[in-house]
Parts: sequence; structure tokens; C-alpha cells
Amino acid sequence: SDSDQWADVDAYFRGMLAPTDSVLAQALSANEAAGLPAHDVSAMQGKMLALLVKMTKARRVLEIGTLGGYSTIWMARALSEDGQVTTIEANPHHAEIARLNIEQAALGHRIDLRVGTALEILPSLTRPFDLIFIDADKPDNPAYLDWAMKLAQPGTIIIGDNVVRGGAVVDEGSSDPNVKGVRAFLKMISEDPRLEATAIQTVGEKGWDGFVMAVVKE
Ligand code: DHB
Ligand code: MG
Repeated sequence: SDSDQWADVDAYFRGMLAPTDSVLAQALSANEAAGLPAHDVSAMQGKMLALLVKMTKARRVLEIGTLGGYSTIWMARALSEDGQVTTIEANPHHAEIARLNIEQAALGHRIDLRVGTALEILPSLTRPFDLIFIDADKPDNPAYLDWAMKLAQPGTIIIGDNVVRGGAVVDEGSSDPNVKGVRAFLKMISEDPRLEATAIQTVGEKGWDGFVMAVVKE
């Protein structure tokens, strides 16, 4: 089927471009053993986040939604020595697994893991962040975008994960809170004169999905 082929191609790309990485493999195993949902980004998406950190020479990264810290580790490893990822996780169990994964990755010095709901923690953060990855509960995406804009500066990149919703993102009458959240988020991005954005559909080991990426205008 198509989705098997998508996964095969992802595995081929991963084998060449991000070959076996014991730290990341260990984090994924730990997440699975602890019963976390397999909502991590794919390896190639993690590598894309890492490359964006490098391309923009980001020093301060904010992640909303740590889960087990898989994407956090990708981004933290891409930072220069003085860089830091601040990552927020609402679920204490997920955060505990993330803390262990970050410790195993020896990245504790580059990752500031905050446990609590994003809307509690975001007001305590100081701006500016250079790259902001929004990957938590989708109904609150509009509120997360408001905070991202407060914490951004010209040139900041804002990325939102999981904007396709199995294709339901086009359903303007949807009652699904995830679809409603993503649609409101996309509308806010499109209408904000400070932002320029694109959205890219993706296929691969995680099936059919996609992300929105915006930059705060200079
Ligand atoms: C879902 C959330 C995610 O962050 C993800 O990467 C995949 C799925 C979800 O809530 O369905
Ligand atoms: Mg996600």
C-alpha cells in the first residue's frame, strides 16, 4: 500500500541521512516501554528541525509539547555550545521519561524542561526565542501562537506540527476540537501581518501529516 511505501522510503532516507543513532533509538524504546503515544516526529522530521536550528544559528529554542523528548534531543544536539532548548510538558509521566532520555543523551545542560501546562509556564519565560516548535494539544494552538508571538523577535521561526488531521483540516464545519484548533491556528497565522508562512504535507513512517512554518518578518 502507499503507506508501506512511504515508510520504506523514510527508512531508506533515514538509513543514509541519519544512520543508527543509539541515543535516539534508546529514547524511542524508553518511550514505548513507558506507554507514551508514538507521536514523536519522524527521524527525518527531527533532522529537519536540527537543520533549521543550524541554518538559522538559533541559540534559544522553545518547544511546546516535549512528550518523551525525542524532538527536543534532535534540536538540542544541533545547538551551539551556548544554546538552550526550553521545553514544556504538561504530563508529569511524559516529563519524567523525557528527563531520563535527556539524561541518557547527556544534554541536561542544554535543555530546560518545564513541567506544567504551557499556558501556566509560557508567561514566566523571557523573550526572545529564535525558533519555536508548537507540538502539544491542538485545541490550544491559537493560544500558543499568541504566546509565540510575544516571545518572538524579527527572524524567529515558528513551526506547528500535525496540521493535516487526516485531511480533515479542510472541513470548515468540523466539530473535532483538534481540527478546530488547527484551523483557527492557520487562520491566525495567515492573517497576522507580522508573519510569512507555508504549510507542507508530509508522508513517511508517521503516515500522512504535515507542518506549518512561519517566519516573523524583519
Ligand atoms: C497527534 C499529536 C502529535 O503531536 C503528533 O505528532 C501526532 C498525532 C495527535 O494528537 O493525534
Ligand atoms: Mg506532533
